[in-house]
Amino acid sequence: MVPAAFAEVLRYWAPVHIWGRKATRDVEIDGVTIPSGAQVGILFGAGNRDPRHYANPDTFDVRRNPVDHLSFGYGPHGCAGQGLAKLEAHAIIEALARRVKTLALSDEVREPSNITRSFEVLQVEKVVAA
Ligand code: HEM
Repeated sequence: MVPAAFAEVLRYWAPVHIWGRKATRDVEIDGVTIPSGAQVGILFGAGNRDPRHYANPDTFDVRRNPVDHLSFGYGPHGCAGQGLAKLEAHAIIEALARRVKTLALSDEVREPSNITRSFEVLQVEKVVAA
């Protein structure tokens, strides 16, 4: 379940709020025309929690395995580093699952950012080894 757990974290908590695209031609989406040349803000978190696509989208479900989440973007310019990000995150989650029984975190202090969901402080308050 390690890859599924990471995918659900990314779906539930998109680390990048918004990214941009520029329309190179008129495009119609759901009856709305985006004119050629327009700048478009892509809200990954909104797509990840679209109830038309995911049942109970505001619930974190480690068994969901949402392999089509949008947190790495989409298409030819989707995240070029996602293979490395997955490798690192899977190694960490697997090591925690094997070696740690309980992990308690403090309330986070967020770092305001228009682009990323960032922390200024996130402390580990308690670790119990497995
Ligand atoms: C959890 C970790 C990461 C997340 C959530 C993430 C997210 C994203 C997102 C949302 C985009 C924009 C995709 C789009 O426009 O469709 C992006 C692009 C990109 N990312 Fe990541 N990223 C992560 C880790 C990394 C790492 C580790 C690297 C490099 C080693 C990396 C390199 C890049 C590059 C080069 C692009 C630009 C790709 C292009 O425009 O063709 N990312 N990433």
